Amino acid sequence: MIREVLRMGDPRLLQVSQPVTDFAGAALRALLQDMRDTMAHEDGAGLAAPQIGVPLRVVIFGAGGQRRYPDAPEVPPTVLINPLLTALGEEEEPGWEGCLSVPGLRGVVPRWRHLHYAGYDENGQFFERTVEGFHARVVQHEVDHLDGILYPHRMRDLSLFGFTDVLFKSIGAAPEGDT
Ligand code: NI
Repeated sequence: MIREVLRMGDPRLLQVSQPVTDFAGAALRALLQDMRDTMAHEDGAGLAAPQIGVPLRVVIFGAGGQRRYPDAPEVPPTVLINPLLTALGEEEEPGWEGCLSVPGLRGVVPRWRHLHYAGYDENGQFFERTVEGFHARVVQHEVDHLDGILYPHRMRDLSLFGFTDVLFKSIGAAPEGDT
């Protein structure tokens, strides 16, 4: 079911979400279906459970075949539950981000370039990956939602914050999808 995406200003986006403890129940399956339906409807590259008002540590993401952003780097469709992130090295990289909870806007955010992440899939199976670049950025953005952090909170230069259609009118399309 397509759910309403909460927008910045809603206090529920600032909450710290709780770990999932029941991987077998119908509630998790229904939540993931709603998240997939909502992300597809919004044509997003990622979505965190608190964005639809559910304060659990669940994110989904995946980009690469999107209608609006066919040139976005490939990120495999992923369900990540109870994530643990570890920066690999000190290197940060600035990059444009958008968020379904901050519609119509984009901003440049510094993120760890190299990242290790671990967590559980929808069947409760542990997995881990070492990633970089856009994939690392999407994971950091989504997992921030679980701690009540929105990307504008991470920005260091607010002159690099603006409306997508104004910022990117010269090239016709924003570089990456909203998450
Ligand atoms: Ni977001």
